[in-house]
Amino acid sequence: MPSYRAPRGTRDLLPDVRADFARLEGIARSLSVRYGYREMEIPLFEQTSVFERGIGEATDVVEKELFRLAPRTEESESWALRPEATAGIVRAYVQHGMHTWPQPVKLSVVGPMFRYDRPQAGRFRQFWQWDAEAIGDAGPAVDAEVIEMGRRFYGEAGVPDVQVLINSIGDSACRPPYLATLKAYFARHESELPELERRRLELNPLRLLDSKDPAMTALVAAAPKISECLCDACAAHFEAVRAHLDAVGVTYRIEPNLVRGLDYYARTAFEYYRRGAEGQQQALGGGGRYDGLVELLGGRPTPAIGFALGLDRVLLAIDESGAAAIGETSPLAVVVGADPADTVSRLRVASLLRAEGLSVRVELAPRKLGRQLETASKEHAHFAIIIGDELAEGNVQLKDLEAGTQRLVPLADLARELARAAKSHHHG
Ligand code: HAM
Repeated sequence: MPSYRAPRGTRDLLPDVRADFARLEGIARSLSVRYGYREMEIPLFEQTSVFERGIGEATDVVEKELFRLAPRTEESESWALRPEATAGIVRAYVQHGMHTWPQPVKLSVVGPMFRYDRPQAGRFRQFWQWDAEAIGDAGPAVDAEVIEMGRRFYGEAGVPDVQVLINSIGDSACRPPYLATLKAYFARHESELPELERRRLELNPLRLLDSKDPAMTALVAAAPKISECLCDACAAHFEAVRAHLDAVGVTYRIEPNLVRGLDYYARTAFEYYRRGAEGQQQALGGGGRYDGLVELLGGRPTPAIGFALGLDRVLLAIDESGAAAIGETSPLAVVVGADPADTVSRLRVASLLRAEGLSVRVELAPRKLGRQLETASKEHAHFAIIIGDELAEGNVQLKDLEAGTQRLVPLADLARELARAAKSHHHG
């Protein structure tokens, strides 16, 4: 017998965990509405070049972690599973001419992303993100609005001690001279560089600052800082972002080595961490400004900013903090019957109540009434609806399992009675 398992780095979200995810998705959707982001969907896969061009070829995400799909035929295009949503959303923005919509276009996506990374705690090959993008606003106020929305998500989700780290990584005016300085610095230490970093030094020196290799820690700490090389426009932008964050009461720490792992960023870059977990490559979320990406993917020059928050890591952080789990929900009512064999009547009554919008479970196994009631109290159902001979006159017994009382209720009034009780209690 083969023994099948979920692929390495993936997991089944069993109902309790799926309910936790649903709660986070609910908060994300509620914030999207409050902040004016409209939810959309993009495909789970795109032409590979959307990611190669958008995210950058010399990044971990594209070079090492992209899930490339095998071509179906010799002529077919090359596709990859989405490692993130930003490139796909921007591809859609260009494809659908969203530059003609009122700007900024604020979009949100909640769903799974795929990265062929080495699985470890908090690092999965399929993971979930809430992604939000504001396309068509050069900031700086919208930068603070986005950062504040992400911060609020953690607050409402119940993740304690979340810290905002921010930086500016410059633009096309000041980044090139900085990169030359950075390259010269690392070139002086070339013999100490791990192989991948040595290769990237030529192509993409900024990536060295974001290296996951522990051998790089000391070198990165002593490297020249972009924040000291910003042009006047970038420095003014960064200062204004901070002033707006102060105005909305978001505290943050400036992190001069924060450069993010994707190539499309310019100016504002930020990440969210649990306090004390900053060094562990375990960001709860991150984002930044990507003013060049729309043009890179075939649109006209358009400023934009956004973030993606990792829902798997948020749940891990909530678990680790020992905050109360949501727990299972108990049914409002269970339909049981005096005649174990009469599943027809039980199913019919349950169907009537479900049609009225009520959540009920129904006993469909031919077990004795006593056993049926035992199960109902074990799962903390509020009511048992007992179907017996009274059904011939259109009545059922409504047993309040919490209060220990029981009375005869006309079937015609049953849904209304239960709905009233449901309103004063919380049931799933
Ligand atoms: P990112 O930093 O690559 O940014 O990912 C955002 C978040 O997704 C991370 O902070 C982390 O919480 C979560 N995440 C990433 N990889 C994994 C993994 N293998 N397992 C579990 N969680 C993971 C982006 O994806 C950008 N698209 C963000 C953005 C939007 N920038 C502008 N707009």
